[in-house]
This record gives sequence, C-alpha cells and structure tokens, in this order.
Amino acid sequence: MKNRIDKIIKAMHKGNLDAIAVIAGPNMAYLTGGDFFLMERPTVLIFSKNKKPVAILPSLEVDSFLSLNFDSEIIDWKDSEGYLSAFVKAGKIIGNIDKIGVEGQRMRVFEFNAMKHGFPNTEVIDAHNDIASIRLCKDQDEINNLKKAVTISEESLKEVLKSVKEGITESELAEMLIIEQYNRGAQGIAVHPLVLIGENSALPHGHAGSRKLKAGDSLLFDFGCIYNGYISDFTRTFFYKEVSDSNKDMYEIVEEANKIGRNLVKVGTSLHEIDDTVTKFLEESPYKKFIGHRTGHGLGMEVHEDPSVVRGNHLKLQEGMVITIEPGLYDKGNVGIRIEDNVVVTKEGHESMTILPRELIVL
Ligand code: GLY
Ligand code: MN
Ligand code: MN
Repeated sequence: MKNRIDKIIKAMHKGNLDAIAVIAGPNMAYLTGGDFFLMERPTVLIFSKNKKPVAILPSLEVDSFLSLNFDSEIIDWKDSEGYLSAFVKAGKIIGNIDKIGVEGQRMRVFEFNAMKHGFPNTEVIDAHNDIASIRLCKDQDEINNLKKAVTISEESLKEVLKSVKEGITESELAEMLIIEQYNRGAQGIAVHPLVLIGENSALPHGHAGSRKLKAGDSLLFDFGCIYNGYISDFTRTFFYKEVSDSNKDMYEIVEEANKIGRNLVKVGTSLHEIDDTVTKFLEESPYKKFIGHRTGHGLGMEVHEDPSVVRGNHLKLQEGMVITIEPGLYDKGNVGIRIEDNVVVTKEGHESMTILPRELIVL
C-alpha cells in the first residue's frame, strides 16, 4: 500500500490541496485494502500532508479496520452519539488548513456537511480529477484480476449461448449469466446483465425483462463480473436465425468502428483522438443519427471510471491504463448494436483482454 499512499500525497500536492478525504468505496479500498460498506453511517479517511491519516469510523467497523494494519489515527463514533463530534475531533487533529479535496462524484451531501462542520474554516472542494488519477494506471496484479474477470464472463457467455432458443426471455438469459459467472469464481456482479432483444437493444442501458426471442431479432449481451474487486464489462450483439441486409450493414459499421478504436490504443494517443476518430467514422457512415454515446470509459474497480474516452479529453494513454472500446448504433424502436472490448495499454501497444469473436454471428 505504501506506493499507493505516495500516489495520494502526490495528487494532494499536484492539486494544491492540504488534505484529501475519501469515503467507503473503491478509493478507500485501493488505499487501505478494506472494502467498507457504503451506508448511512459516514466512514471517512482523511489524508493530510504532515500527519498520519485520520479514519472516522462507525464503532462497528473498527475491528475490520484494525485488521488491515493500516497506520492511522482512529476516531470512532457510536450510533447513540452520532457522527458530528468525530468530524470535530478530526478537524482538531489535522488542524487549520485551507483546502480539503473530496470525491465529487461519490461523497454524499450529509458527509460533505459533516466535513464542513469539522473543518469550518476550510474550503471543501471537488478533487475528483486529482483523486481519480491515482487509479488510472493499473499494476500487474490489477491487470491479472481484470483478465480473470473477463475470462469468467466470456466463458459464461459461451455456455449461456448454448441455451439460446425461440421464446427464451431476456431475464432468463440474464439469470443464467449470473449463475454461470458465480460458478466460475466471480465474487459479484457490478450491474445486472443487460440482455436485450430486438428493439430493446436500441436502449444503450436498457433492462432485461420479459421480451421473448424470435427469428430476426438482435440479441445484445452487455455484462461483467467482479473478481478480487476488479470488474469486466463487455458487449457482444448477435442475431437469431436470420439477419436483414440493413442490420448486417449496420453491424459491419460498428465492427469496423470497434477495430479502428482498438487499433489506436497505444501509449501517447489521447482519449480525444480515439473518440474523435471512431465517432467521425460513424458520422460519415449512413448511420450518423444512430450514434448514442462516447467510444468508451476507464475500467477497473468501477464499471465506469476515469479516463473517459471522449472528445475533449486530451489526456494521453499511459502503460497500464485500461479502457473500453464500445462503439454502438441505436435505431430507436428497431435495433441496437454495440461491440465492447476491454483493452489494456501495454509497452508495445495494447492487448484486448476480451477475445470472443467480433464478426457477425447468427445463432
Ligand atoms: N455504455 C456506454 C457509456 O456509458 O458510455
Ligand atoms: Mn458494458
Ligand atoms: Mn462499458
């Protein structure tokens, strides 16, 4: 964990902050090894420049925290007394400082208010970018965990495809995917599998329901699992029994967009360049009006994390970054097609952790 603590201290200096506070969740897990329950009881860890980290913990979490052997001051609070005085104590320990950075996409209003209460003379500001920077580049263990999660998901999909038949519902297939992934060692799923048939596949984040499969339908699977805290997230779109010429043409455009995106992944390419090139290709196709979203996102301990693969993000890829390449086209009321890969930036270029075929398959 030492080099991870160094990273957060570096982020603090880079962001011109005096302290950084993280709540229960992936950043806390990354920094301490402890996966704490995000609940109504504030669980906050505060790093500052010249002091030990200060952990504000609900009393029932203290033993779990101690088992991590994480060097910090612990301020615990009991349900019967409430949490505000713990924040005041933390403020006294850390002292008068100008700026505390918090996770702007994660910290909730009551935790933010408690921070303001404990640090009344301090600016509490959104430091999302600085904090997210610590997890941008994955080490070999993290990459191995991601690869294992991807393999579990891919093997599970192969098994579930054997059960695809006329009349099967989205929910039935989603349930099978969950079971198959747990059977292969998944420790959880990050989101309920998106299994979308026909016009439902035109909803980029639709929900599996009671729609039944019939000939000519598209069948989109977008799902993943958690392995040692790391998450897979990939999509394949199939057709059942037959595919119309227009759907085949649209599929081949998405397939080519996915290939263009993957081939751009290497150290030094900007996220902007990837999304701009892929989106331009889709914009110049006959399907411009069916574009629904950016090319992809970072992947790791969260399904969507930094860096965003989007126009305007001029951050350059570095070795160890993991992103999704997931162009899609969505013809509302008719069909949606997406092909999503999980790609790691390597010294030599990139490696797609997802290896299932991308060409059109009619089941
Ligand atoms: N699933 C695509 C996105 O949210 O960007
Ligand atoms: Mn996905
Ligand atoms: Mn995704």
